Amino acid sequence: MRKHHAVFGTPISHSLSPRIHAAFARQCGIELDYLAIEADAGDFRAKLDDFAAHGGTGANVTLPLKEAAFALCSEASERARRAGAVNTLVRAGDGWHGDNTDGAGLVRDLTGRHMLDLRARRTLLLGAGGAARGIAPALLEAGIGELTIVNRTPERADALADALGEPGRVHPRYLGDLAALGEFDLIVNATSAARGGQLPALPRSLVGRRCAAVDLSYGEAAIPFLAWARANGCHDAVDGLGMLVEQAAESFALWLGTRPETDGVYAELSGRAAALVTAD
Ligand code: ATR
Repeated sequence: MRKHHAVFGTPISHSLSPRIHAAFARQCGIELDYLAIEADAGDFRAKLDDFAAHGGTGANVTLPLKEAAFALCSEASERARRAGAVNTLVRAGDGWHGDNTDGAGLVRDLTGRHMLDLRARRTLLLGAGGAARGIAPALLEAGIGELTIVNRTPERADALADALGEPGRVHPRYLGDLAALGEFDLIVNATSAARGGQLPALPRSLVGRRCAAVDLSYGEAAIPFLAWARANGCHDAVDGLGMLVEQAAESFALWLGTRPETDGVYAELSGRAAALVTAD
């Protein structure tokens, strides 16, 4: 039976998800429609209900709806609850089961594709919004060392640190104190700063000897931070395209019980990613 899936968010027209899932479905011999549906906080619920009424059984959720998606789920996985954000919806009876595959996707990309050993890395997380919340639990589970969270609005960094529940390992700090925080082995940009304006000022003193820098965005949105990383001596500079492909594979497996191979899709997309403007 043909499957009906979609990604919801705004802006959505540049989303790569329909292309990624079409490639996965071809590879696995599954008949799948995968639409990109423009939705904001005001009409998300109605559009999702309409999607379900027309046979929709699986959905991805992206900016700015991940927290709203969590709120409407009738049940949610442990990792989605810990993140307070959902990027994957699976139809369950009359409701939706929520999951979050972003963190697993990021860790798989960094450790499997980019061969980074995350264990014991002293990590700086820039940002404390939905994207940061989605990936922080998975980084902790992957064995990073101390996690320092800085955010323009300090209360959100405090709230994320509290939610992670590991006060010995997770420390919220002020953006203005960056110069006093010492060196890091992993710096993750989970802010949307480059999409709307400018990157916060980042001192070179943050960069440790074999520091890896990761931007959760890809395309143009990832350029300012990764340019800073390269100019300031980071050993690796990784954008979010691999994470996008890996979180998609993880969602696909949740819906359809088959985990697609990702390297071919990643290779195809990375050839054109530099021309893209949006993150997913
Ligand atoms: P997302 O799902 O992308 O995380 P979000 O929940 O709106 O979206 O979070 C955006 C993140 O980028 C937040 O950490 C935000 O900081 P605030 O919590 O202070 O709003 C951060 N951000 C956005 N624009 C920024 C800027 N110009 N400078 C610094 N941080 C910025």
